[in-house]
Amino acid sequence: MKDIRQITTEALKKVKDSDALTLESIKAEYLGKDGVLTQILKSLSSYSIEDKKRIGSEANNAKSIIVAEIKNKKESLKKFLFNEKMRNEKFDYSESFYFPFSKGSFHPVIQMINDITAVFKSLGFSVAEGPEVETDWYNFEALNIPDSHPARDMQNTFYVEGMKALLRTHTSPGQIRAMEKHKPPIKVIVPGKVYRNEASDAMHFSTFHQVEGLAVDENITFVDLMTLLSDFVHKLFGSDTNIRFRPSHFQFTEPSAEVDMQCIFCKGKGRCRLCKSSSWIEILGCGMVHPNVLKAVHYDSRKYTGYAFGLGVERLTMFKYGIDDIRLFYENDLRFLKQF
Ligand code: DAH
Repeated sequence: MKDIRQITTEALKKVKDSDALTLESIKAEYLGKDGVLTQILKSLSSYSIEDKKRIGSEANNAKSIIVAEIKNKKESLKKFLFNEKMRNEKFDYSESFYFPFSKGSFHPVIQMINDITAVFKSLGFSVAEGPEVETDWYNFEALNIPDSHPARDMQNTFYVEGMKALLRTHTSPGQIRAMEKHKPPIKVIVPGKVYRNEASDAMHFSTFHQVEGLAVDENITFVDLMTLLSDFVHKLFGSDTNIRFRPSHFQFTEPSAEVDMQCIFCKGKGRCRLCKSSSWIEILGCGMVHPNVLKAVHYDSRKYTGYAFGLGVERLTMFKYGIDDIRLFYENDLRFLKQF
């Protein structure tokens, strides 16, 4: 009988030099049914009790050493093969493959914000963002809407008493934040979500989107505002779309106006479900920045003038696609969303 220690050394060497293919046969050679160590264990009956004990324990010991070594070798071979595969594998980024899910798309309101933003960028505006949780100062005070002024009644808030914080009711606080950050000249739009504590119907919802606009410099006039807004509407809806200005009132602008746009469906002709046959649709509020607003951000109101505007994104989107209920935007019904 071969010396068990010698057998073990020999087996361990073979394991060490093996590859994935030879490892299994080495295992069989020593531990299999007719394996060298198995044979030794089988032949134990022919030995004296003492030899049985000694040889048995030596053989079992050798067996577990070899089993452990085979296990280690298997692991390192696995790692090696994986690394080798990673090294050699070339990923073909141009290869097309079958993708069993339909692609998503931008929500129509987001698409509209992107379109609006692109137009204003082309007209020289930069884009800023403001927080949706605002303070009383930015949402009202700095915009010339003092505490207890009746103008506050126009916008029902989600207000946190004691903290003087609220979900912003409009994107106009973005004006204040932009002016605090930059000196004139300034030309910026602020798109974003706004919140009002009101019951929803076909035209109202507690969450909606606005795009605020602001330009401040020396010698800015109302004519600049009119030109800008008609350029904007022409670029977004086509050069044959007229707009009109109606006098209005906002605390943060003086004078103020509301802008209507000609109905793109009926162009003022005949009965129309969309504009309710009025041929005009209100799209935004605007005006010349009130001197008190300029003062709130420490701009010299004798040197600088500016215009501001705020438009409702859902309204424009509804108008563009002929959607008659604002709630459709928030129900996430795929039959609706897949149309965009
Ligand atoms: N913040 C107003 C609103 O939510 C909209 C608005 C009107 C914004 C006139 C303006 C503006 O910047 O000049 O109803």
